[in-house]
Amino acid sequence: MERIAAEGPNAQQIEYWNETSGAKWVAMEDVIDAQIEPLGTAAMDRADVRAGERVLDVGCGCGQTSLQLAERVGKAGAVVGVDISGPMLERARERARAAGLSNLSFLNRDAQTAGFDADFDLVFSRFGVMFFAEPEVAFHNLLSALKPGGRLTCATWQALPKNPWMMIPIGAAAKHLPPSDPPAPDAPGPFAFADAERVEGILRAAGFDDVHHESVERELLVGGGGTLDATVDFVLQLGPVGAALREAGDAVRQAAAADVRTALEPYHDGAGVRMPAASWAVSARRPA
Ligand SMILES: C[S@@+](CC[C@H](N)C(=O)[O-])C[C@H]1O[C@@H](n2cnc3c(N)ncnc32)[C@H](O)[C@@H]1O
Repeated sequence: MERIAAEGPNAQQIEYWNETSGAKWVAMEDVIDAQIEPLGTAAMDRADVRAGERVLDVGCGCGQTSLQLAERVGKAGAVVGVDISGPMLERARERARAAGLSNLSFLNRDAQTAGFDADFDLVFSRFGVMFFAEPEVAFHNLLSALKPGGRLTCATWQALPKNPWMMIPIGAAAKHLPPSDPPAPDAPGPFAFADAERVEGILRAAGFDDVHHESVERELLVGGGGTLDATVDFVLQLGPVGAALREAGDAVRQAAAADVRTALEPYHDGAGVRMPAASWAVSARRPA
């Protein structure tokens, strides 16, 4: 399997998305896609993708959005998905082959440092741009991938308290784990772009104008729905809860699972756990 070296400014993320998280995302691709698709679709609708356009899908992961973008641009257009994760890109390539999409290709590169030609109409991302060590440098590089006047649209998470689907399981699991300092709010990670004012500053410093945040709030079917036990299993594997429990022993995991189950039970409606979520659809433009 293709795998880039864990070096450069995002070495830690390259290691993480290849060695720790990539295989988990591949294994749970369908349930993750089912959960976050509504937020990605809202951002994609806002991006106003047109037939014939060239789109760069940043941090495309297992490729659901790349496939959707390829459908939207049609045969006259093209989509390139770029990601640092070998396992996730392998899955994305499989899906593109199965769908018979000839206008879709993938690049195993760090989007912060990869050299791009300035020939894209749109840079899109669903939750793939919050992991850069140097966001201003990374967005300047993404700006350089756009034609003059080209658009950027990204889905990013709003702050943890606005995302009970993640905050409630974290709270329930936390008491079983040794105390730890919370990560710095700007540190690379899912919530690094929660502060809209900071992100607008980063984008303007990177050279973008016409910078906006639109709040996208939806009720999510956590883990794509299913039984309460399946949903508990899902939240215990991914995101901050998964990271915190990774090092824990079986007894701790079981105690945390029992409390997460109790916390999620009131939200289970028979079909699955439905909880509020809030993301941003961030948009900007390369000056013409
Ligand atoms: C939260 S996942 C989202 C995946 C996908 N966009 C989706 O919505 O299913 C974040 C993705 O960003 C990728 N990523 C993180 N840092 C990156 C970088 N510097 N360059 C390219 N991809 C990166 C990860 O490998 C991972 O696939």
